[in-house]
Amino acid sequence: MRGTNFDMEKLDISIRTASRDDVARILEIFEKAAASQADAIPLDSNRSKLTVNVMDRDGFDTRDRAAYFQAVVAETKDVHSKGRKLIVGAATYHFKYSTWVGQVVHLGSVAVDQVYQRKGVATKILKYLGKMAVENKFLRISFEVSDKNEAAIQLFDKIRAKNLTKEEGWLNFSFTPETVDKIIHSASEPVPDDIVVRRTEPKDCQSILAFIRDLATFEKMPDGPKLSVADLQRDGFYKLFPLYLSHVAERTDPDTGEKEIIGYSIYFPTYSPHYGKRIHLEDVYVDPRYRSRGVASSIFQALAKVIFILHVLYITHTSYLKLIFQTIFHIHNLVLQGKWILRVHAGVLELERGGN
Ligand SMILES: CC(C)(COP(=O)(O)OP(=O)(O)OC[C@H]1O[C@@H](n2cnc3c(N)ncnc32)[C@H](O)[C@@H]1OP(=O)(O)O)[C@@H](O)C(=O)NCCC(=O)NCCS
Repeated sequence: MRGTNFDMEKLDISIRTASRDDVARILEIFEKAAASQADAIPLDSNRSKLTVNVMDRDGFDTRDRAAYFQAVVAETKDVHSKGRKLIVGAATYHFKYSTWVGQVVHLGSVAVDQVYQRKGVATKILKYLGKMAVENKFLRISFEVSDKNEAAIQLFDKIRAKNLTKEEGWLNFSFTPETVDKIIHSASEPVPDDIVVRRTEPKDCQSILAFIRDLATFEKMPDGPKLSVADLQRDGFYKLFPLYLSHVAERTDPDTGEKEIIGYSIYFPTYSPHYGKRIHLEDVYVDPRYRSRGVASSIFQALAKVIFILHVLYITHTSYLKLIFQTIFHIHNLVLQGKWILRVHAGVLELERGGN
């Protein structure tokens, strides 16, 4: 630990967008923070730990794709080196797509060098991100925190963040790499011939929005979706950087030949400062008339193939408590047949291979 013989109260902290030159220091701060929070953020040997090169590529190499994450740093004068500035805290964030409100900001992580903690650095970083979100008309900033991470919980409580697990019963799910592989290779129940799963086209958005509204009614969420069909048709179909990706399950009536959309998924890449690229599954939904026919499994399989192509390690999913049983039921076909188990790990529920 560095010497602390300087007046902490007079810290002059400024926040700015990070550049590639900051990556090594950001990673150093995150790694030390993870080590100090070993109980709250366990990094077992199976998990990819970020390197400077990977983080540099994922956040700053934007030659042929959007950055997977953005970052800000908090810096102050380095008392050990006249005139130079020292980065003492950092946060990464990325954009998520909510089927309720459109694009939102997701905080990947915020961490502060131990020597500079409890001096308002994290609060200043979060205020900066809040201002940025308001200026860009993002309606929400979201983040996840382990229930063992007292410091972070206190911090978010103090800035009056809403605890969605406590107040509304949302839970986090995560598929491990092995699960994704298993989904791809699973001999799931054959989907009836009249149903195909394909990439979503703009013309499908009307049906998707109707399902999103059904979900809102089912979840008894008074503050339902604010998106329009036009929003969905715009946001998912930017040529270079669509804000979300999606599959639909389409059924062709064997008698009339008429086609109808009977299910959908919406997902997008996100970024974890501990594990790297992830896919967040925002919604998966099957029309109640066609449930228990393997449709959700086929949607998962299509998603798993995308994940395989993108070399993503984890799929995460947040589900409202009342939907949990439904979600588990959908996963049931994929999991129990192959003797897989659900377990809690690092504060999230994960799917993992069972003993036999
Ligand atoms: C959580 C963390 C970012 C807080 O950074 P910080 O700059 O020390 O936070 P602030 O000084 O802005 O603290 C604001 C408030 O948060 C709460 N808080 C912060 N650290 C706390 C701790 N260790 N214990 C209890 N409350 C704490 C307090 O209410 C504090 O206000 P107070 O100092 O007036 O009592 C820092 O402890 C850290 O880097 N932890 C490791 C990484 C991590 O867990 N990140 C969060 C996961 S997303």
